[in-house]
Amino acid sequence: MSITYKELKGPKGLPIIGSIHKIELANFHNQLEEWSEEYGKVYKLILGPNKVTVITDPEITQTMLKERPGKFRRMSKMDEIMVEIGVHGVFNAEGDVWKTHRRIVNKGLDVKHQQQFYPEILISLERLFNKWDNISSKNQVLNIQQDLLRFTVDVTTSLAFGYKMNTLEQEGDVIQNHLEKIFPMIFKRMNDPFPFWRYYRTKKDKIFDNAVLEINKLIDEFILDGKKKLKDNPALREHPTNFLESLLVAAEEEDTLTDEDVRGNLLTILMAGEDTTAHTLAWSIYLLAQHPEVQDRLHEEAKTVLNKSNWLEKYNSHSSLLYTEAVAMETMRIKPVAPLIYNQALEDVEINGYLFKKDSKLLIESRYAGMQDDNFSNAKEFKPERWIKQEKGKCPMGHDTKAYIPFGAGARFCPGKNLAMLEMKLVLSMLMKNFKVELITPANEVKEVMAFTMMPSEYQVKLIKRD
Ligand code: HEM
Repeated sequence: MSITYKELKGPKGLPIIGSIHKIELANFHNQLEEWSEEYGKVYKLILGPNKVTVITDPEITQTMLKERPGKFRRMSKMDEIMVEIGVHGVFNAEGDVWKTHRRIVNKGLDVKHQQQFYPEILISLERLFNKWDNISSKNQVLNIQQDLLRFTVDVTTSLAFGYKMNTLEQEGDVIQNHLEKIFPMIFKRMNDPFPFWRYYRTKKDKIFDNAVLEINKLIDEFILDGKKKLKDNPALREHPTNFLESLLVAAEEEDTLTDEDVRGNLLTILMAGEDTTAHTLAWSIYLLAQHPEVQDRLHEEAKTVLNKSNWLEKYNSHSSLLYTEAVAMETMRIKPVAPLIYNQALEDVEINGYLFKKDSKLLIESRYAGMQDDNFSNAKEFKPERWIKQEKGKCPMGHDTKAYIPFGAGARFCPGKNLAMLEMKLVLSMLMKNFKVELITPANEVKEVMAFTMMPSEYQVKLIKRD
C-alpha cells in the first residue's frame, strides 16, 4: 500500500490556517529544510486552504521533474498569477503551447548564438572590468551585486533581443530597479493563502503594477526595434539572428503564437536571465572572499587561459576554465538561487511507495539533498575540486549527481544553463585574473533572502589589484 497525503507527517498547525503563521517568506527554504530534518523527505504542510506536499527526496524529485509535461505541471497558481500580470511565456505555459514556446526558446539560447554574439558579450565584460578597475584604483568599497545585475541584463538583452542596453554605464534609474520588484511579488502571491491583491491594492501592489508597466514599455521598444530590423532586412525571416526575431517570425507564421506570447516570453527571458545568474555570481564572490586559497587557484587558471588579456578573448577557450567552472558548480550546490520548484500532479501518480493524487500541490526543495553527506562527501564544505573529473569520469570526492539540480531536470530544465555558465566563467575569470576580493561586510551578517530567487542580502567588497 502506498503512503498517501493523509498519512504523511508534518508541522502541527492551527485549525483553518494550518502553519501559515509560522512562515517567514524570506527564510522559507530554510524552514522547509529544517522541517525535512524533522518529518522526512516527503512531508505535508498545511497553509490555509492549500494542502502542500514538500519533497526533498532526490529520486522522487527527479521522477517528478522528468515526468513533465505528461504527469506533472508547474503549480496552476503560478500560471494564474503570471497571466494576471500579462505574462504568457514558456515558464508558465503547459502542454502543446509550452512545446511551441520551448522550441523557440531553445533555439534562441543555443550555443551557436552565444558564439555568434560573443563579441557583444565581451563589450559588456570590458565595461564591467573598467568599472571595477576604476573603483579598485580609488580603493573604494563596492556593492558588487548591483553591477552583476546590470551585466546580466546587458548580456541577455543583447544576445536574446539584439538590443544594446548598456545599463552598466548608466547612472540612476535603470530597468533593474523595476525588475527587482517582480520576482518578490510573484513569490509572495504564490504563497499567499488568499488572493488579497485582487480585492485591495496595497502600496506594494501599486509599486509592482508600475514596475510591470515600465518593463512592458521597454519590451514594446524591443519589439518595435525587432520588427524594424525584420522589415529593413527581409532575409532575416529565413535566418533570424536572435530569440526576439525567431519569436516575431513564428508569431506571423504560426497560429499557436500570439502577440501576447511574444511579450510574455520577452519578459520571461528578461527576468529569468537576470536575477539567477547575477545572484549566483554574488554568492560565488561571497564564498571566494572566505577562501583565499581558492581565489589563488582561480588566479593561476585565469593567468594560463586568459594569457595576456584581462578577460577571455576567445569563445572556445571557455571550456579550459575547468576550475572556474567547478567554483560555479560548487556555489550552486551550497547556494542554489532557485531551490524551490512548484509542481502539481496531472493524474494520480505513484513514486517510490508514495501516492501523489491528481491536482495535489507539490513543493520541491532541491538544496537539502545536495547538502547531505550521503549524497556529497563532506557536504557542508565548499570544495570546488570535487567537481574536477579524474580519469574514468570519476569525481575525487564521490557524489550522487541525482541530488544536484540547480537548473532543474527533465524536459523543463533551464534553457539558459549554457548562457549562465558562460557568463559566470567570464566574470569570475576576469575578476580573479585581475583582483583579490575582500569582504567588507562581515560574512556572518550576509543572509540568505528568499524572494523566488534566493539571493544574498546586500554586502560590500573591496577589490585589490593583482600585479
Ligand atoms: C545560474 C543561473 C540560473 C539558474 C540557477 C537557473 C535555474 C532554473 C531552474 C531551477 C529552472 C526550473 C527548471 C525546472 O522546472 O526543472 C529554470 C527554468 C528556466 N530558466 Fe533558468 N536558471 C538560470 C539562468 C537562466 C538564464 C540565463 C535564462 C535565460 C536567459 C534562463 C531561462 C529560464 C527559462 C525560460 C526557464 C523555464 C523553462 C521551462 O519552463 O520550460 N535561466 N531555471
